[in-house]
Amino acid sequence: MIIDTGVPGRLLDRERQRYRAEHPGSLAAYRAADHLLGRVPMTWMNMWSGGFPLSFSTARGSRITDVDGNEYIDFALGDTGAMTGHSPAATIAAVQQRIAVDGGITTMLPNADAEWVGAELSRRFGLPIWSFSLSATDANRWAIRLARLVTGKPKILVFSYCYHGSVDETFVVLGPDGQPRSRPGNVAPAVDPTTTTRVVEWNDLDAVERELAHGDVAAILTEPALTNIGIVLPEPGFLAGLRELATRHATLLVIDETHTFSAGPGGMTARDGLQPDVLVIGKSIGGGVPCGAYGLTNEVAEQVLRRSASGEADIVDVGGVGGTLAGNPLSFAAMRATLGEVLTAGAFEHMINLADRYTTDVQAILDANEVPWSITQLGARAEYRFVRPAPRTGGESAAAADDQLDEFMHLFMINRGIVMTPFHNMALMCPASTIADVSTHTELFRAAVAELTAS
Ligand SMILES: Cc1ncc(COP(=O)(O)O)c(C=O)c1O
Repeated sequence: MIIDTGVPGRLLDRERQRYRAEHPGSLAAYRAADHLLGRVPMTWMNMWSGGFPLSFSTARGSRITDVDGNEYIDFALGDTGAMTGHSPAATIAAVQQRIAVDGGITTMLPNADAEWVGAELSRRFGLPIWSFSLSATDANRWAIRLARLVTGKPKILVFSYCYHGSVDETFVVLGPDGQPRSRPGNVAPAVDPTTTTRVVEWNDLDAVERELAHGDVAAILTEPALTNIGIVLPEPGFLAGLRELATRHATLLVIDETHTFSAGPGGMTARDGLQPDVLVIGKSIGGGVPCGAYGLTNEVAEQVLRRSASGEADIVDVGGVGGTLAGNPLSFAAMRATLGEVLTAGAFEHMINLADRYTTDVQAILDANEVPWSITQLGARAEYRFVRPAPRTGGESAAAADDQLDEFMHLFMINRGIVMTPFHNMALMCPASTIADVSTHTELFRAAVAELTAS
């Protein structure tokens, strides 16, 4: 039986009421948060379903517990920030050694961990030269500046419904008329972002070529698969086409692997042999400790250094690239331990095997019930979307959004002990995830679909 659009109100009400009834401590904490904007430490936390987020008390491996004593299998994993699992032992030990034994949380001085991490990122992703930030957002911001510096061109090109952090230039989408526009909800942009950015649909090489032909694009900034509007995979030849077009139009290819790192130890770049000029990553490589990084080819690095040496740009002082706490020893201790001992090749193999199973199970339930949804996997992550076949552009995927179905699925899961990523229906595996965790999800997903199809 096929699910029609919309969730019956009684099912949604039942889940809302249960959420409220079983989380009195979280509700009380939310109500008491009089000094927090939107009652949360970061306004995004209001994306959680149910009217208020869980107030958590502990988080270890693939488990979190809330202040009411409920335990959850965590498939959200801090929207990838905790892809390592929560508080991995090796990262904790390295951080403790650094801050409690050796000392130094922030010093504005280098230490040996930095070169180790740079070398390890080079080994994994292929780019030889690295620099560090405190977030992937900042890494993207600085990468864009360096791309403009190196090419002497003013604009960037992005894909409609991309997300690269709160980077001004990226908040552009194609409207229903096919014309670029500021993304709905964009908070008071300093300038209309359509003046800084060209935007096209994902998987549309003709459109990329058309826009690059203007000759004013410093960089194509993209994930190698869209992961922030569902997962939208590249069609065969698309990424190779981007590389070829970027080279032909003297534009840099900036690949943001912050989420697609789930594809393997060197992300999609290593897995699929991509050749970016600049690579950005953040979130998980510090095991949850704030960090971000961007890698450069020798050619790009040399040009940046030359223009800096000539006085054309200041990358040393207040030229717009940098942060006081960026490159701090705490982040490096965490990144060294996380890359060296936690997010290993063996860990990825385990995580990807589990995601294979998760995806196969969900697909089988969708097929057996003729549900017009699709599920897309990217290594250790998988996400279902309320449309079938799977979307091939950001615009198509955005059109498949269904707030009520999202809310129902999130609450159905959370009320029965599973946390999914709030902005998506994304599930991510960590080294501590187990086949039993996946099976628990499979049975709950089967039950949710049964309720929806029966109603
Ligand atoms: C692909 C991508 N890049 C960059 C970011 C920004 O990361 P952060 O918020 O940690 O700066 C995100 C966040 O979701 C992301 O998905």
